[in-house]
Amino acid sequence: MTTSPTNTRHDPGLEEVVAAQTVLSHIDGAAGALIIRGVPVEALAEQAEFEEVVHLLWQGFFDDLPKTAELKTRLAEARAEAFRSLEPDFARLAAMPPMEAVRAALALGQDGHDLKTAIAALARAGVMTAALKPLSEGRAPTPPTPGLAHAEDMLAIMGEARTPEVVAGLNAYLVTVAEHGLNASTFAARVVASTQAGLLSAVIGGISALKGPLHGGAPGPVLDMLDAIGSIENAETWIRASLERGDRLMGFGHRVYRARDPRADALKLAAARLPRSTGRLALAEAIETTILTRLAAEKPDRKLDTNVEYYTAILLEALGFDRAAFTCVFAAARTAGWIAHAQEQLLTRRIIRPQSIYVGPLDNVAA
Ligand code: CMC
Repeated sequence: MTTSPTNTRHDPGLEEVVAAQTVLSHIDGAAGALIIRGVPVEALAEQAEFEEVVHLLWQGFFDDLPKTAELKTRLAEARAEAFRSLEPDFARLAAMPPMEAVRAALALGQDGHDLKTAIAALARAGVMTAALKPLSEGRAPTPPTPGLAHAEDMLAIMGEARTPEVVAGLNAYLVTVAEHGLNASTFAARVVASTQAGLLSAVIGGISALKGPLHGGAPGPVLDMLDAIGSIENAETWIRASLERGDRLMGFGHRVYRARDPRADALKLAAARLPRSTGRLALAEAIETTILTRLAAEKPDRKLDTNVEYYTAILLEALGFDRAAFTCVFAAARTAGWIAHAQEQLLTRRIIRPQSIYVGPLDNVAA
């Protein structure tokens, strides 16, 4: 005796499924717009400190959420605590692939449903991400500095110069990618949260989904692609050969945007302000034009445009991050969004449990 799903339409990418109602962000894919709790992402990227955006995202989801200034202090304290508890394991963690190190750093924490767990998750992700660079170079990460904002302290832990442009550049990145609707990692985080597993578990679910090259793992490969192309003279030939092989060009295309991803320009602007981006940015802009022309010619029915990852790569490189760790910086920022979504999901008091259609045999008893 078998029971069949009530809906027999199979939608493997779930693009037609509305699985959540959210107050957190609105993506207008046709217009290329992203609104985070009522504010356009471009305005946040230019004006808001990361802690303000965390506060904006977490508002209404924690009864004891303090004002932004107090949240900033508590996050700074949590970074100091995260550093102390992770330091004995730094060498072991640094021997792992970067995203696995950040995931493990979170997994070493204590799970829970409260604000303390949320702040600790944000702190652990930031501290571990920042510690990766010095550890990979055989240097000791600098312990967190009381009183610094999250972005500046991450640079301090790394041992990077903290000029106003560099601090603003990392802050703009963290703000720009902190939240983005029901993408794959946020959906994963909501699924975990819906089981009441805890906030840390939801964040670890999000990190695991973010790691893949079709989602947050693209910016490292963007730089690999730019290195492989090497010069604008070589671009057309390289791109044609790549598309003929059926490869995807990293940093282009999106499930939701049918126009330019608004985050691409916010990050390009932040990168343009950094002296270290100069040569790379000019080449990236020229190659982008060639890629967009080729994609329009070869996929005329599919509007494929630049996504967030293209200029993420240029910005994070200019900020001093290793390309292998780019996705960790993404995770450190998106942890804020995953936590907000996890809390929002819990309010529904409904476990996420879709259906599947069984297509195997029903009479395999002899096997
Ligand atoms: N290069 C070449 N062809 C592409 C690309 C690309 N970057 N993106 C999509 N296509 C083609 C794809 O091959 C397919 O063609 P066909 O039907 O002939 O096989 C068609 O366009 C499908 O496009 P789609 O339905 O818009 O794509 P999707 O929703 O399945 O995938 C995507 C979205 C982001 C996974 C995809 O565009 C991709 O793989 N891009 C490259 C990786 C990348 O940049 N990832 C970062 C995404 S932005 C960060 C985030 O928010 O996750």
